[in-house]
Amino acid sequence: MPYDASLNFVFWSPTKVVFGENTALDVAIEVENLKCKKALIVTDRDLAKNTEIPEKIKKVLGNLCVGIFSDVEPDSGIHIVNQGAKLGKELGADCLVSVGGGSAIDTAKGMAILLKEGGKLQDYMGFQILTRPQTPHIVIPTTAGTGSEVTYVAVIKDHQEGRKLFFGDYNILPNVAILDPRMTEGLPSILTGATGMDAMCHAIEALHSLQREPIADGIALHAIRLIKEFLPRAVKDGKDMVARGQMLIAANMAGVAFSNAQVGMVHALAHSVGARFKVHHGLANSILLPACLKYNADECGGIYLDVLSAMGVDIGGISPDEAGNVLADKITEFTRKLCLPQRLRDVGVLEEGLKECSEIALSDGAIVYNPKFISDSAEVLKVYREVW
Ligand SMILES: [Fe+2]
Repeated sequence: MPYDASLNFVFWSPTKVVFGENTALDVAIEVENLKCKKALIVTDRDLAKNTEIPEKIKKVLGNLCVGIFSDVEPDSGIHIVNQGAKLGKELGADCLVSVGGGSAIDTAKGMAILLKEGGKLQDYMGFQILTRPQTPHIVIPTTAGTGSEVTYVAVIKDHQEGRKLFFGDYNILPNVAILDPRMTEGLPSILTGATGMDAMCHAIEALHSLQREPIADGIALHAIRLIKEFLPRAVKDGKDMVARGQMLIAANMAGVAFSNAQVGMVHALAHSVGARFKVHHGLANSILLPACLKYNADECGGIYLDVLSAMGVDIGGISPDEAGNVLADKITEFTRKLCLPQRLRDVGVLEEGLKECSEIALSDGAIVYNPKFISDSAEVLKVYREVW
């Protein structure tokens, strides 16, 4: 889709990316490059309990590691960030190595703030509040989806209020992302599919965002090509290291794209239903995506033709008016083949909660960038009902 003379944007992606099998084993080099000596590993309970990954990272860090904080839960909350920061302070940590999915990475971003600034995490909520670089942070993702290793965003749950808090600040961008396919080898197929669809949503939402721009467009379109080709392979065979590696790259690229261009209503609706009903973020996105594409179809025909083309569809006979519906059907076909749930009711969402979710979604930061302006929660409710 062409741009007119009013185009202006800033593209920012300073995180160093290291890719390759077993590159996580060289994490000590990155700690030393950052001139740090006391790394605290931040990981989630499940990974610490059921895999040897955190211990392996600790071992290769040797005396550069002061400990492991392994209390991160899915949808990590403020209290977890506080506990982690307290431990970090006690151990004198001068850098963080997060090992895990979005929850561990975002927890470490929150801890990076508290270790540097002190005070209450809520004081830094919002957009661009911090004025200086935060505690150095190296990320080793164990899922391929969130892209959080290259974004300036952290989403932390306020369990008391039952909502997700948004932190958007260039000063929390991780310093280094180590993409090692071996780290995602053990991810179950359902989570591989769900996190992969989160990346797909990042790429598509970056493309249809009001803040879209050509550099992010190019990155997002290639991420879509990779996801289309390699996500089914990674879901089918978790040991397929080529597919695992290409999915890590795709998720990373989609992360770069949306960190610059933002996301829209798919994420706004997924955040709300995720906070209320504990639906996995990737699954919520995956379920909501087709209905949101249809909702935005009349504004985004040309963009959706580009997405279809990146997905390998011959767009010769498809008009821009038809593109939204055709793309919605293609996405549904794609997620069915990945054996992912198709309805919100399949993932524990109760119909009576949809109205409240639609009201909360309307105040989500992501909805501002949706290509079609939404000011009425009844419109959101209609979309929720369509996929309930
Ligand atoms: Fe996401």
